[in-house]
Amino acid sequence: MTLAPTPHSDLKPMTHSPHLETLAIHAGQKPDPATGAIMTPIYQTSTYVQSGVGEHKGYEYSRTGNPTRAALEAGLAELEGGKYGLAFSSGMAAIDTLLRLVAAGEHVVAGDDVYGGTHRLFDKVLKAYGLEFSFVDTADLDRVRALLRPNTKLIWLETPSNPRLRITDIAGVVEIARSHVSRPWVGVDNTFASPYLQRPLELGADFVVHSTTKYLGGHSDLVGGALILSDEAAYERLKFLQNAVGAVPGPMDCFLALRGIKTLAVRMDRHAENAQAVAEFLADHPKVQQVIYPGLQDHPQHELAMRQMRNGGGMVCFTLYADEASARRLVAATRYFALAESLGGVESLIELAAAMTHASVAGSGNAVEPGLIRLSVGLEHKNDLIADLANALLEV
Ligand SMILES: Cc1ncc(COP(=O)(O)O)c(C=O)c1O
Repeated sequence: MTLAPTPHSDLKPMTHSPHLETLAIHAGQKPDPATGAIMTPIYQTSTYVQSGVGEHKGYEYSRTGNPTRAALEAGLAELEGGKYGLAFSSGMAAIDTLLRLVAAGEHVVAGDDVYGGTHRLFDKVLKAYGLEFSFVDTADLDRVRALLRPNTKLIWLETPSNPRLRITDIAGVVEIARSHVSRPWVGVDNTFASPYLQRPLELGADFVVHSTTKYLGGHSDLVGGALILSDEAAYERLKFLQNAVGAVPGPMDCFLALRGIKTLAVRMDRHAENAQAVAEFLADHPKVQQVIYPGLQDHPQHELAMRQMRNGGGMVCFTLYADEASARRLVAATRYFALAESLGGVESLIELAAAMTHASVAGSGNAVEPGLIRLSVGLEHKNDLIADLANALLEV
């Protein structure tokens, strides 16, 4: 059998900007200048020898800068279509450092369905330093507009939101921000989508935040965070804060994030394929009351999600007709879905959001309903995942 020749003549010269699949493997990473190593080395060092006072090779001390971190920061910036990237020791450290751009007496409009730790930072830490917060369903643009004040400095979005997977129209919020007298920044937590599914800076947002712990790292083996932006003055201030506050990641975690990012595109496609299959199975199950997944046509913002994101992502939530005790039995009865906090790794996870990831908002206006089950759908075979849930549903 003879194979058809490869149609080289159809290949266009590289005048276009590279696709995300290509960027994920190459962005920010050059062969190591010292050895040619194709993988960015783990520069496990705290300091750098100077040949004379102030004479160095661009690095003085690893809180200020480290070559493994620099590769990650450059790569993240390219992936999000921003000019600058900054890496942190956790997603919360990235959010906390960004919020230091907001002064006492200034106001933030934030989503009312955000990661419990983000709500806790805003409500229980930063309020005490004089920052003002209004929490609202940011999917409702009229309500966002109505809350803006002359001292509003930042609109904070999480889309898809955690845990209820609400979708906010990023470009719509940017338009509202730009036309308001206070011209607040728009910051987007892009953790649930990843830059493969959604690129907020291209929609006009000022800042993107990630918990790199999740889809970017992708293997449940690191805790990290990132900020990406294009404004030079804000970058200079945030870079100063990154060093002054010091919540930086170590080189090993930066290496793990860099390695995880290389497979981001293939992982995100499979996460979404599996999540869609799991959501459709649950939606047809007689014991399941409600399924929330942006890829399902009955999701209230399905069309917006399909416009703003490449696919529905890997997160699914659902409730049972039965009581909370049954939900607790179910989450402990699965075999492949591990009962654990966090998300975005190759292995599937299941949790009861109100009692676990969102325990910190219990009793607040943002509390999560007690029976809401959250799935991070992993990369196992979708039929095994569905069979696992079908078995566990027999227990309730
Ligand atoms: C959407 C979102 N943002 C931020 C964070 C905080 O990230 P980290 O746990 O890396 O501090 C999380 C953690 O679950 C999250 O889900």
